[in-house]
Amino acid sequence: MKKLVVLTGAGMSAESGLSTFRDAGGLWEKYKIDDVATPNAWHRNPGLVLDFYNQRRKQLFAVEPNPGHYLLAELQNYFEVEIITQNVDNLHERAGSSYVLHLHGELMKVRSTGIGAEVYEVSTDKIEVNIGDNCPNGFQLRPHIVWFGEAVPEIEKAEHLTTRADILVIIGTSLQVYPAAGLIHNARPNTPIYLIDPHEIENLPYNVTVIKNGASEGLKELKDLLLKNQK
Ligand code: OAD
Repeated sequence: MKKLVVLTGAGMSAESGLSTFRDAGGLWEKYKIDDVATPNAWHRNPGLVLDFYNQRRKQLFAVEPNPGHYLLAELQNYFEVEIITQNVDNLHERAGSSYVLHLHGELMKVRSTGIGAEVYEVSTDKIEVNIGDNCPNGFQLRPHIVWFGEAVPEIEKAEHLTTRADILVIIGTSLQVYPAAGLIHNARPNTPIYLIDPHEIENLPYNVTVIKNGASEGLKELKDLLLKNQK
């Protein structure tokens, strides 16, 4: 089977009802990155940061995967699908995708602020994480999220996957945040690249086929195209 590597961003989950970051009305219009998504924000006001991610977690509980997530899971019948996502939600997994690499962390995990940085699943019975919720060694738990200014531990794995792609698909990302945005340049020169987004993305390499549509409709088009090319 051919290896289909998919890079997804917030637009992938938009049709499920989760806000993107940089569209009109997006999360970064309502919150300042410096208040909720940096190590400094955490040191200044950890309660505010925990609260921001508690809200994200509550929203995630209220939504479902959209047809686009399910179409990606269905493509596993025809391709070896590897998803690299910048999203911290678990909608790909809930739709049935079996390989999902989370570049920017996961909402349903927390980790110790102690030296071991042990990672724990958030209990579905108590999805809020508050000041005073500690790891077994007594250190405060923090969101398992890659904040601005922090290293992206999974980037090398993502680069490796992208380099080995037979087909690269990019869905719902403004490609403004590095190093994730640089992955498009790791594809081998003859690898077909498809990009699904309802808005124009600037500075794309010349060899990208753009499907200007939302994730669900765009993936329907892409599935037809890929299966036709398989024959
Ligand atoms: P952005 O908000 O920057 O971009 C979202 C993209 O989704 C835009 O290009 C939209 O045009 C597109 N979009 C909107 N609706 C869509 C739909 N129905 N179907 C498909 N695409 C749609 O989000 P990201 O690129 O994911 O990181 O942002 C990257 C990172 O910046 C995030 O992981 C997050 C953020 O700050 C952290 O918080 C660390």
